[in-house]
Amino acid sequence: AGHQTWGGRFSESPDARVAAFTESVSFDARLAAHDIRGSIAHARMLSNVGVLTDDEFTQIEAGLNAIGARIAAGDFSWDPALEDVHMNIEARLTDDIGALGKKLHTGRSRNDQIATDIRLWLRDAIDALITELERLRTALIGVAEREADTIMPGFTHMQVAQPVTFGHHMLAWEAMLARDTERLRDIRKRVNRLPLGAAALAGTTFPIDREMVADELGFDSVIDNSLDAVSDRDFAIEFVSAASLVMTHLSRHSEELILWMSPAFGFIDLPDRYCTGSSIMPQKKNPDVAELVRGKTARVNGHLVSLITLMKGQPLAYNRDNQEDKEPIFDVVDTVTNSVALYADMMPHVTVHADVCREAARQGFSTATDLADYLVRQGVAFRDAHEIVGKSVQHAIGAGCDLADLDLATLRGFSEAIGEDVYEVLTLEGSVAARNHIGGTAPAQVRAAAARARAALA
Ligand code: ARG
Repeated sequence: AGHQTWGGRFSESPDARVAAFTESVSFDARLAAHDIRGSIAHARMLSNVGVLTDDEFTQIEAGLNAIGARIAAGDFSWDPALEDVHMNIEARLTDDIGALGKKLHTGRSRNDQIATDIRLWLRDAIDALITELERLRTALIGVAEREADTIMPGFTHMQVAQPVTFGHHMLAWEAMLARDTERLRDIRKRVNRLPLGAAALAGTTFPIDREMVADELGFDSVIDNSLDAVSDRDFAIEFVSAASLVMTHLSRHSEELILWMSPAFGFIDLPDRYCTGSSIMPQKKNPDVAELVRGKTARVNGHLVSLITLMKGQPLAYNRDNQEDKEPIFDVVDTVTNSVALYADMMPHVTVHADVCREAARQGFSTATDLADYLVRQGVAFRDAHEIVGKSVQHAIGAGCDLADLDLATLRGFSEAIGEDVYEVLTLEGSVAARNHIGGTAPAQVRAAAARARAALA
């Protein structure tokens, strides 16, 4: 009954509420181009093994390409009564080229078809995301090079710890995104395997050539076990997990940008075009992009929980539950790709207030560790040096000044090992320049690390 392609054994059409509840075309229409690509590869293979004639394949291919062009032009009306993207396209093909359209689904099921579509689509999405990540990494490296000499406070526990260079801080962000890129490339390998040929769950009685289909669609290999091929979505969970880490990294960046732009810090400014104002407070300029990236991290993390929960109770093989994978996957791709793209646009235009950053590093005794290291070089044991410097800091707090403001006689009151040359290690520039090893904050090291990061991107 009805015009359902599976209607043969049914005596009535789905209840209206059931039809609305089960349809997926309202969101999976997004897979149309990939669905058509997969169908053409399948049909070509069927003609190659003699299940379709060459002429039949040529007509099917032309019909599918015409539908693809109409969809791309926005000139296609999707019918929710046909459930999903697959049935909409197949039904239209049969309308267009006649009964031959009904042969396309030979040796195939929507179960292996949808698994193929998502993998094809996600592969492209991963490539696009990697492109945006590389653009953002390039932007961060640029800021690092520009601000290699800019001194700012480094924090632990949000308390001033030791001076670092702004460029060093930018390269820490870049390093996180470099690992994210690496992770995505690795996951792409497992996404890029072909489920088609598994049919509904057990394979097909037709003499299919899965290697040929894999080749044509650019898959690295064929998924071996048909039950596994149609039912697991672990590749999507891996992707969303990696996306969740990208967002977590961006969320940390966001938190810092927001703090640094607060007048209480005043380290940076963002261009007006990346900020918005307040409807009541005329003076406000708010870092909404950064706040929304931090906020959108929550929904991506939520989708990760959705997908992994979706899988946990499913017996083999395909279950309709898996239709619920689409919206989370699409939303994750949109959210993370847009967030990374926005940051790639915005980061080169961050203004750094070097004087404010320097002043903040000067406060809070950020070179106290340098003084302790100095004492060690004079032969004092580190634990004793720690105690001596602690006493000096306590004195400076009482005097309301910095360590470098204490005169030599006062400092020597804490340790006879202190000499005139101590003031060199108490300066901010001396402190950062002294951390001159791979991974250290010295400007020379930041420039070398930036060059390495650029080379890794090339
Ligand atoms: N819309 C379905 C999905 O997303 C396609 C596969 C449906 N298969 C089926 N036998 N109902 O998973």
